[in-house]
Amino acid sequence: MKPSREPIHGQWSSRWAFVLAATGSAVGLGNIWKFPYITGENGGGAFVLLYLVCIVLIGIPIMMAEIMLGRRGRRSPINTMRHLAQEEGRHGWWRYLGWLGILSGFLILSYYSVIAGWALAYLVRTAGGVFTGLTADGVNNIFYSLVADPERLLAWHTVFMVMTMVVVARGVRSGLERAVRYLMPLLLLLLLVLVGYAMNTGAFQQSLVFLFSPDFSKLTPNSVLIAMGHAFFTLSLGMGAIMVYGSYLPRHVSITHATFTIAGADTLVALLAGMAIFPIVFANGLTPAAGPGLIFQTLPIAFGRMPGGEFFGALFFLLLIFAAWTSAISLVEPLVAYMVENMRMSRVMASALAGGVTWVLGLGTIFSFNLWSGERYKLWGLTFFDVLDYLTVNIMLPLGGLLIAVFAVWAMRRESSISELGIGDGPVYRSWRFVTRYITPVAVLLIFLHAIGVLKPWLNRL
Ligand code: TRP
Repeated sequence: MKPSREPIHGQWSSRWAFVLAATGSAVGLGNIWKFPYITGENGGGAFVLLYLVCIVLIGIPIMMAEIMLGRRGRRSPINTMRHLAQEEGRHGWWRYLGWLGILSGFLILSYYSVIAGWALAYLVRTAGGVFTGLTADGVNNIFYSLVADPERLLAWHTVFMVMTMVVVARGVRSGLERAVRYLMPLLLLLLLVLVGYAMNTGAFQQSLVFLFSPDFSKLTPNSVLIAMGHAFFTLSLGMGAIMVYGSYLPRHVSITHATFTIAGADTLVALLAGMAIFPIVFANGLTPAAGPGLIFQTLPIAFGRMPGGEFFGALFFLLLIFAAWTSAISLVEPLVAYMVENMRMSRVMASALAGGVTWVLGLGTIFSFNLWSGERYKLWGLTFFDVLDYLTVNIMLPLGGLLIAVFAVWAMRRESSISELGIGDGPVYRSWRFVTRYITPVAVLLIFLHAIGVLKPWLNRL
């Protein structure tokens, strides 16, 4: 055991630098683009409640475990898992957990970048006043003409990929800290402006009922799995992103405080996004279940009508792009850190290579909305993008997270986790250990079993 192990890639300058970077990773398209549309597709309140329960019982304990493993290992996730397994006298196979994470991050980034590209396209459109005075139909048409055009999507996807890889090539810490410190609070403020607008649409009350009054009959069999998958996705858990960031964390920082701050900020942003978007949905007679285009089909209506809408709209999409950017960076960081450590590559080379391959895979998502949107190209009625999203978010991340939890509380010695978390053997440590040992893994397993229909006969008997 070498508690004084220094990280290879440098360290965060302070506790705040870590919290900001991790919040930058957590807050992204997941909160503003994805949370509202999956909430809409899964019937509202009951889904939101499930999601919050998953954040508390699964997300928070696993985030603590992931940061803890990262800081103890001080390396990219693969090497961290290998070293920790060795140190704890466990099987070398644990390193494949690192590989699973790298694969998930790569697959997610390939479509994440395409969606972030939509936000780039919308930045240009709102700034240019395209939406001024448009009806819901007009706004809809603009969305469909964008996604129907593979060339435009490809151009924006390319821009976003290049932006991401430039930052990654220069090292995650330079620039990122400052960007997050000022832009995150600004994003929060702008969301409040939007919620303020939404309060005057006449459908605010209805939206609050939709979002916060649970009606369990609206859930589909898959909703529970989607809520859990989203808890992992929105907190950036289960693939080593937070582990890598934790590996740059100075020793004296409290992992518990950091975790609650990050999870709190992330949840707040998601709920505000929901409260901004659904009033516009209901006030304009749109359907909450519109799918991945939801924010792009609703928010521009508000921007087109509010005074100063061009300014607010452009600012909103700019901030959304920043939020997506700081998240995308964390999706490739484990891979790039590994290439630098084990393949003796420069950061620039590693970033170019990783970015290039991800860019190519992104074509599959682009085509899912146009060339490959026909039945002929679908698998079980799902497009390439749908399959990729389902597989990564609902299966790979929870699986990775489950294994991280199992390693942290079953494979790792008690003394090791006590010393690394640094909160002594008190009530906080004991409750974390209890929840992570018994509740988190059982919850994840039950949700998996539920999704594949194994629990159905039992549930029917209740
Ligand atoms: N959490 C980010 C969002 O909500 C996406 C993200 C960044 C992510 N890094 C990740 C998701 C790692 C899973 C794993 O937009």
